[in-house]
Amino acid sequence: MNLLDYLPGVPNFPKPGILFRDISPLLANPAAFKEAIAQMDILAQEFNYTHILGIESRGFIFGSALAHHAHKGLALARKPNKLPLATHKEFYGLEYGSDSLEVQQSSLPKNAKVLLIDDVLATGGTLIAANKLMRSAGFEVCGAITLLEISFLNGRQLLDQHGIANKSVLLS
Ligand code: PRP
Ligand code: MG
Repeated sequence: MNLLDYLPGVPNFPKPGILFRDISPLLANPAAFKEAIAQMDILAQEFNYTHILGIESRGFIFGSALAHHAHKGLALARKPNKLPLATHKEFYGLEYGSDSLEVQQSSLPKNAKVLLIDDVLATGGTLIAANKLMRSAGFEVCGAITLLEISFLNGRQLLDQHGIANKSVLLS
């Protein structure tokens, strides 16, 4: 099974010049979704992690499925103004805009070793913000796993420069 077949590119979305990767076909196919999580788990096993941080919103899907599969705890990095208790916040740039992420201080135990999970690594801005978020909240980050790395945007090099160990199941 070639998982890339289940992640078709949609040209010029959400802006001209961007090739958007649609995860819907993969999620709609139980064998493909299962294989994606199994492959992410194989990469995740190289890290000594206790908890997963899923990044809103597509990272929630893969982060929660992997946490369930690997029997790990799950915390949520949320888009702004969604969380009721004290939070840490990081702003970041994207391939097609800017945003911010928040995490609740109380969402993880103090000794958590966190693995960052998202669907796609593009510029790396989201994962760098998630890494800063975890560190500013006092948590250890082991690394980051994504299903797909868009290689021409050089996100991996940026993560390497920030000292974030990272692996992706698929390259495009
Ligand atoms: C997309 C994707 C990754 C991020 C990758 O999320 O799901 O989180 O962009 O890009 P980067 O490496 O350049 O940061 P998006 O912010 O579009 O939102 P969504 O997950 O809520 O759809
Ligand atoms: Mg996302």
